[in-house]
Amino acid sequence: MSEDQNPSGDGKGQTRAQHKRNAESGNPYQSSDGGVTTTGHLWDDDLADFTNPPPKWWMLGLAVSAIWVVVYWLYYPSVPIPTSNTFFKGIGGWTAIREMDADKSEVDAVRGKYETRLKTLAPAAILADSDLTEYVKRSGKVLFGDNCAPCHGTNGVGTKDKEGLFAPVLNDDDWLYGGTIGDIYTSISGGRQGMMTAHQDSLSAQQIDDVAKYVKAMSDEGKDKADTDAAVAAGKKVFAESDCTSCHGADARGMQAMGSANLTDKIWRFDGSLEGIKHTIAYGVDSGDPKTRVAIMPSFKEAGKLSDTDIKKLAVYVYKFGGGQAEAPVAVEPAASAVPAQ
Ligand code: HEC
Ligand code: HEC
Repeated sequence: MSEDQNPSGDGKGQTRAQHKRNAESGNPYQSSDGGVTTTGHLWDDDLADFTNPPPKWWMLGLAVSAIWVVVYWLYYPSVPIPTSNTFFKGIGGWTAIREMDADKSEVDAVRGKYETRLKTLAPAAILADSDLTEYVKRSGKVLFGDNCAPCHGTNGVGTKDKEGLFAPVLNDDDWLYGGTIGDIYTSISGGRQGMMTAHQDSLSAQQIDDVAKYVKAMSDEGKDKADTDAAVAAGKKVFAESDCTSCHGADARGMQAMGSANLTDKIWRFDGSLEGIKHTIAYGVDSGDPKTRVAIMPSFKEAGKLSDTDIKKLAVYVYKFGGGQAEAPVAVEPAASAVPAQ
């Protein structure tokens, strides 16, 4: 800095020399033209502070923020009161719960118009409305994840244990109990429990062996080619003459009314090896035998865990996995078909 760095002489940025000069002329802290003064404090012989006031806008900002702090502090819950184990609740009555409720009612208002319609519409009617279906697919995802995915797997891919499928695949077009929207609704609402009697007493080990070979051959080679070798032919006879056909049908394709599996396809509900098939035939399904295979789909209506609207949403959601089937025209009664029993 040069000696005359501030020729205006207003006292700002005084140099040592200026300061000295000013000191000689009386007030050492005043600029030569009587301009800005200093605080009068002096450090280090000749260091001084100017007394420039801060700008007005800055002071105003300071005042406003001070007031804001007090107002905010009074309005919202602030100070804990340790003695009574509570806190100052604020004059605004704000609570996090109340704010959440307000947000929620906003969301509910948006959902409301869908939800009221869902309440009154049958699953088939929901499916027919693309707007509603879109909405239901989204809320169904959460419901499915919470209630169904533990058994059926995310997106209905099914879950397996060492016995085979623990809970069936829902995203294919193979259905034990039918794949129309009404069937699916009934499965979820009422639950399902396949029942196949154990045959270890009614059939000999040889018969079980033969009929298992026949069942496997139907799956491997197709029903019509399945009687080529002697054991398979013997099994075919057992199948026709024991009780198999009363549940699986003469064509062995299963009956949806009782969820008896289609034995002619390549889709196995349980272990599809020869040993696995023999086990199913010997001990049955949900038969009460200690070695029985277990297949229990809980009733979500009975459990009271889901509302009827939730169940409808899930029916549409599951249908939309891609395996949903249109109602067979003959089976449809105009009004009753779509409206499930309440
Ligand atoms: C405790 C495990 C479990 C849970 C939880 C469960 N399921 Fe099931 N579900 C099963 C089993 C096991 C079956 C097969 C029953 C049978 O084989 O008789 C089944 C069958 C079904 C079927 C019939 C499939 C067909 O092929 O006809 C549908 C549809 C279904 N479940 C949907 C659902 C939905 C939707 C949920 C959630 C609300 C759900 N399930 C929750 C175990 C479960
Ligand atoms: C009382 C009715 C009933 C009778 C009788 C019956 N089944 Fe079944 N069977 C079922 C049902 C229901 C299922 C499907 C269980 C499930 O998935 O919940 C089944 C499943 C099976 C399976 C397993 C299919 C798979 O995908 O894993 C085989 C194999 C089978 N039955 C063979 C037979 C044979 C062979 C006979 C005659 C000896 C027979 N069943 C008699 C009702 C019956």
